[in-house]
Amino acid sequence: MRATFNIQRLRPTSVPQCALIVFLAVLCISAGLQAQTKPVDGEGHQWWQHAVFYELYPRSFADSNNDGVGDMNGIASKLDYLKSLGVDAIWITPCFPSPQVDFGYDVSDYENIDPMYGTLADFDHLQREANKRGIHIILDFVMNHSSDQHAWFTESRSSRENPKRDWYVWRDGEGPNQPNNWVAIFGGSTWELDPKTGQYYYHMFYKQQPDLNWRNPAVEKAMFDATRWWYKRGVSGFRLDAVDTLFEDPDLRDNPVLPGQNAYGNPNEENKYNTKLPELHGVLQRLRQVADENNAVLIGETWTKDADELKAYYGSHSKELQMPMDFMFTTVNKLSPPDFRKQIAAVDSAGWPVFVLSNHDIVRSYVRYGDGVHNDAIAKVMAGMYLTLRGTPIMYYGEEVGMTNNDPTRKEDVHDPIGKLGWPKERGRDGERTPMQWNATANAGFSKVKPWLPVPESSKSHNVATELNDNESVLNFYKKVLALRHENTALLDGDYVALNESDPNVLSYLRRYKNEAVLVVLNMSGTEQKVSFDLAAQGFSAANASTLLTTLNSHPQ
Ligand code: NOJ
Repeated sequence: MRATFNIQRLRPTSVPQCALIVFLAVLCISAGLQAQTKPVDGEGHQWWQHAVFYELYPRSFADSNNDGVGDMNGIASKLDYLKSLGVDAIWITPCFPSPQVDFGYDVSDYENIDPMYGTLADFDHLQREANKRGIHIILDFVMNHSSDQHAWFTESRSSRENPKRDWYVWRDGEGPNQPNNWVAIFGGSTWELDPKTGQYYYHMFYKQQPDLNWRNPAVEKAMFDATRWWYKRGVSGFRLDAVDTLFEDPDLRDNPVLPGQNAYGNPNEENKYNTKLPELHGVLQRLRQVADENNAVLIGETWTKDADELKAYYGSHSKELQMPMDFMFTTVNKLSPPDFRKQIAAVDSAGWPVFVLSNHDIVRSYVRYGDGVHNDAIAKVMAGMYLTLRGTPIMYYGEEVGMTNNDPTRKEDVHDPIGKLGWPKERGRDGERTPMQWNATANAGFSKVKPWLPVPESSKSHNVATELNDNESVLNFYKKVLALRHENTALLDGDYVALNESDPNVLSYLRRYKNEAVLVVLNMSGTEQKVSFDLAAQGFSAANASTLLTTLNSHPQ
């Protein structure tokens, strides 16, 4: 039967100027759908494909001992909240011993917990409590570099003959100059002269983060063993930090120089000879074997320029990363259906998509997409999008309550070294790392003392306790979408089918699974929009449709 599903008019939201709408309708309903409980379903999906991941920054999540910094026991105390939100896996950014130059991304011992966060016993407690609730723990594997305070580097720099010398990348200078023109991501040269042995060591990030030499099999073994050590403690996988940068050209060819300068005053360059070298795929394949032996998942911090580059990280026959993150998605910094459509289609064809809106290095989505007036409505639209797409979403803590960036306004308040170095062009990443907003009390209920970073004024209204009591809050919208996502087969397993592809204002798509589908309609414009759908080609009839969730005040006619 030919049928047209025609929404005559989508009424404005409670925000009159801005009709931002999420409309989800089941077109053919089948009964008895259950959330996935087994690791592999009838479609061959793995547990992580049906899971919702949640990134949390341990310094900022919950402070159980009131020292101003979050900790393991703090995280454990919030597991019930995470469960009720609809989170299945938490990715904890580095919590290992570290001098904290890069807030944990400078690891001085891969097999322990930084005392600031507690003890290994606290971690084990957290793991047990997470297990009880069916929440997986993912740790951050900082594999490109260690801290310069790691015992391996202390040995390596002690003499040219030290057995660990070749665990890092040491080179002679070019006469009185550095070995080549490579510029570090965090500013300055990638080369640091070590006066004791008269050679330069290589660091893609800060000089306190010397790069490990992944051409040395002993390094690979030691690092892989570190993952095994955590798997034995019960972790379910790793997010691989800076995976693009594992290898460097052995001939150290100069990178091509591009016009302009970075925020630190260095020439821009194309990282042709020190990122995404083909050798890294061998490492990922072998690391994946270790992960497979432990039923674990590998998530990649994969900065790619297009879908082909992203595809390479899944590996041929999907033998590398199960979850390379799609950061191209985060570069669509405006509410643009055509741009999102393009990105979604590209990643959908590359493999199992992994969508993120924000993280600890990116300005929060609440600010990036918000117009300053309708930010809550816009935050709901964004949630309505990335939590209903095919793939696995990774939330960033606080996004669910509409946390804003709280950027420092004075250089002397900056903690993140790149903010100090690049001020005022680069203010650093403190703004997106502020304490989780639990309630409307002082310090947003994160700590009883002054936290390491200040909470914004908006924490008075945008916090868990306040929003739980408001049916229209961003938090309750997240909860509803996440609940749907867990119970609806089309949202779990369905294909992505783009609709109305020339509409510049409304992003619409179907998630279609066998004889059922969910229609998602997101009005990204500031005005009321009329949309209509002819779903006959998909075999669906309006007669069988019902609304699952909407930000409209009333159902469409
Ligand atoms: C990427 C991490 O996300 C970032 O926070 C860190 O500074 C760099 N890698 C270096 O580890």
